[in-house]
Amino acid sequence: MSSIDKKKILIGISGGIAAYKVPLLIRLLIKKGAEVKVVATSNALEFVTPLTLQTLCGNKVYKDMFGEWEESTTEHIALADWGDCMIVAPASADVIGKYANGIADNALTTTLSAFNKPVFLCPAMNSTMYFNKAVQRNLNLLRQDGVRIIDSEEGFLACGTSGKGRMEEPEIIVQRVEEFFSYNQTDSDNNLDFSAKKVTITAGPTRERIDDVRFISNNSSGRMGIALAEEFTSRGVYVDLVLGPVSIQIPNNKNLNVINVESASEMYAETLQSAKDSSVVVCAAAVADYTPREKYDGKMKKKEDNLHLDLVPTKDILKELGIRKSASQILVGFALETDNELENAKLKLKKKNLDFIVLNSLKDKGAGFEVSTNKVTIIDKSNKVREFPLKDKREVAKDIVNLIKEFF
Ligand code: CTP
Repeated sequence: MSSIDKKKILIGISGGIAAYKVPLLIRLLIKKGAEVKVVATSNALEFVTPLTLQTLCGNKVYKDMFGEWEESTTEHIALADWGDCMIVAPASADVIGKYANGIADNALTTTLSAFNKPVFLCPAMNSTMYFNKAVQRNLNLLRQDGVRIIDSEEGFLACGTSGKGRMEEPEIIVQRVEEFFSYNQTDSDNNLDFSAKKVTITAGPTRERIDDVRFISNNSSGRMGIALAEEFTSRGVYVDLVLGPVSIQIPNNKNLNVINVESASEMYAETLQSAKDSSVVVCAAAVADYTPREKYDGKMKKKEDNLHLDLVPTKDILKELGIRKSASQILVGFALETDNELENAKLKLKKKNLDFIVLNSLKDKGAGFEVSTNKVTIIDKSNKVREFPLKDKREVAKDIVNLIKEFF
């Protein structure tokens, strides 16, 4: 039986040619046992008729804010209460912008504002619009707000060009929603398994001070580690997040203890302390491998000569955890590789005595630092290799946490 069987799914359609794929999306959801209702903008209904939508889902299409309602005078609230999740497909640049900024001026955006359950957003637009800075900024805002973005694909676009911006295929959208509900259904079991256990996570970059105003660092955004912390805490697990300097906002959660650090040596001390009573330790931080031998007090003056920095190796936190780890503790590392990815990751797994290692290759588009998506391969200590598709970092975090649960 599908995990969406008997689920109430609200589809929001905004104006874009990809709206022609929505009837197929409805068919697929209904075939899997879901109940479907539709809310559409008037532009959406230029591309797909209310009669088609109504016939397929067996419910009237909600399209006017001030229409005559049989059931409720505040239909957007009634609809929002009804749905177990909402899929916005296609999501135009306009609806993305409005939703990200709290604007509610039509039937779809008012319903979205009143909806406090999982929302899946399927962007669809021309490539230039998709890469427009405001659109990307709004998508990032929505990701940070917990909206699940089912990202656009590369492909042939209605404007005659080819590129990123094509709405994901209905089959894949349904698959993502099914994945979500199947994880969620096991969440209550996960809660039980993980209860009373503590997890330590390292995330973000470190800063190695040269003088009072300069430092050596890297591009890590901390997103992957923060997504892992969110995933664990959402399952009722207590998390110590040892976090290097990052600019993204950290969600508030009573189960989350953020320990801010700056340098590799501070991260080393805090992580080893926290890990002592943790059942799971995940090192997702991009720790500097070298640090200046001495920090200059004040601001170093410019000289005519070349400047040579004397850098010494930092301590490897993960390796030290591997030495100290008890038989019952699960230790997970990350590896960011550019060459011989799999072999190098396997070597790190062994050398650092890990239970598994999460490999991201910088060769994969959409994976690695500073982006909100990741494509990972997980290798466990029996050398079993699991490959995952490109996903939002929150979804990657779910995959990792589900795998950790298997190791208990
Ligand atoms: N790591 C750590 N402490 C360090 C360096 C790395 O805890 N001083 C952890 C990272 O958090 C990651 C794993 O070790 O989980 C691998 O990091 P990576 O930078 O890929 O590898 P290194 O061991 O630093 O080796 P190299 O840079 O040569 O690839």
